[in-house]
Amino acid sequence: MSDPNKWATASGPDVPPGNAPQPASIRPVDQSRRGAIGATAALGAVGGIATAVPFVASFSPSERAKAAGAPVEVDIAGMKPGELKRVEWQGKPVWIIRRTEAMVDTLGGLDPQLADPASDRYYQIPTPEYARNEWRSIRKETLVVVGICPHLGCSPSDRFAPGAQPSLPDDWQGGFLCPCHGSTFDLAGRVFKNKPSPVNLDVPPHTYLSDSKLLIGEDKA
Ligand code: FES
Repeated sequence: MSDPNKWATASGPDVPPGNAPQPASIRPVDQSRRGAIGATAALGAVGGIATAVPFVASFSPSERAKAAGAPVEVDIAGMKPGELKRVEWQGKPVWIIRRTEAMVDTLGGLDPQLADPASDRYYQIPTPEYARNEWRSIRKETLVVVGICPHLGCSPSDRFAPGAQPSLPDDWQGGFLCPCHGSTFDLAGRVFKNKPSPVNLDVPPHTYLSDSKLLIGEDKA
């Protein structure tokens, strides 16, 4: 059964390792049947194009741009301290978190407990220069991260409340917990040591168009 927490990923428990037996669908094809299969596939492809073109053409300009991975503008005016906002960019969930002062304060001094405190490694997106700091963001109070666990692609949940609670250490100061295999991340998306995820949550390129407008997917660089 597929895991409801799992976000789309190129690898994962459903993908067999490289030396596992190949499924029937990718075994060598019987040469005598190749022509017939090719002709059928070609007809199928034509039918697919005939139905796909009107479907894509029916998209509005903004929907087409979004499907192609255009930057996403987000209004962050009115976000309350401690609030998390979810948007989608390039098919990925992106979280915007308005951290409180107390949340920012938890980030200092965690380095010895973190696997990669300086964000030297990354999952799919190299960490932008402006996020290679302790709070991993342009503005201390606003964190922007991709909400996909780099271990096997689940979506972590926010566990902002500090203190002992199930699946978390007694000295928990707030952050994120991946329910699939227990990776924990601090309030800057940095993974703790000895967890299944080898790297931090990705920070997407982003920039501020104004005090209250954030652009995700593009930056001044
Ligand atoms: S997917 Fe395994 S810990 Fe997140």
